[in-house]
Amino acid sequence: MPVARLTTSLNVVTDPADDQTEGTTIDPSEYRRVLGHMPTGVTVVTATAPNGPIGVAIGSFVSISLAPPLVGFFLGNQSGSGIGLREAGSFCVNILGPAQLDLCADMASRADDKFARWEWSSSSATGSPVFPGINAYVDCELHDIVSIGDHDLFVGRVLDLNTIAGGEPMVFHTGRYGSFGAVG
Ligand SMILES: Cc1cc2nc3c(=O)[nH]c(=O)nc-3n(C[C@H](O)[C@H](O)[C@H](O)COP(=O)(O)O)c2cc1C
Repeated sequence: MPVARLTTSLNVVTDPADDQTEGTTIDPSEYRRVLGHMPTGVTVVTATAPNGPIGVAIGSFVSISLAPPLVGFFLGNQSGSGIGLREAGSFCVNILGPAQLDLCADMASRADDKFARWEWSSSSATGSPVFPGINAYVDCELHDIVSIGDHDLFVGRVLDLNTIAGGEPMVFHTGRYGSFGAVG
């Protein structure tokens, strides 16, 4: 049996001739449709860049490590917010509830001034925008950026975190917004 080896791209293959992923094509709309069955929470990642505040709707937020305290999110490498996030060197994850649907829509847009109709305050640790009425926030200094496929994984070291409203979450699933319903 061939010995498994770890390629530099971290795809585990046993032998090049056995690599079934080579040349595989996945239809993008089918990829999105199937993966859309995986629900995500909804956040807005903010930062204070030299050119002004940055905000982008993010569903890929994840906690990574407790010691040290690290969290992360995946940002498309064509995102207009990527450069500003790098320049800021810090970010704040605003964890949304159902009341922030309009905020989410604005932050998912490519408008020039996404903050035009929103009030916000500066987080105490990094000065990043925090929106009133959100469920919670996680304020971070930028720890690492890892390029993976067509996305960049932004890893933050948590400096401060707290709940604000602490209510039900906003959930994104199969292209629709909802909230949490306990089944047990
Ligand atoms: C619910 C929701 C979740 C999203 N999650 C992500 C995500 O995890 N990563 C990402 O790159 N874009 C995500 N987006 C898309 C971005 O918000 C969108 O592309 C936005 O226009 C990017 O703004 P920018 O170009 O100013 O950076 C999400 C959008 C929505 C509505």
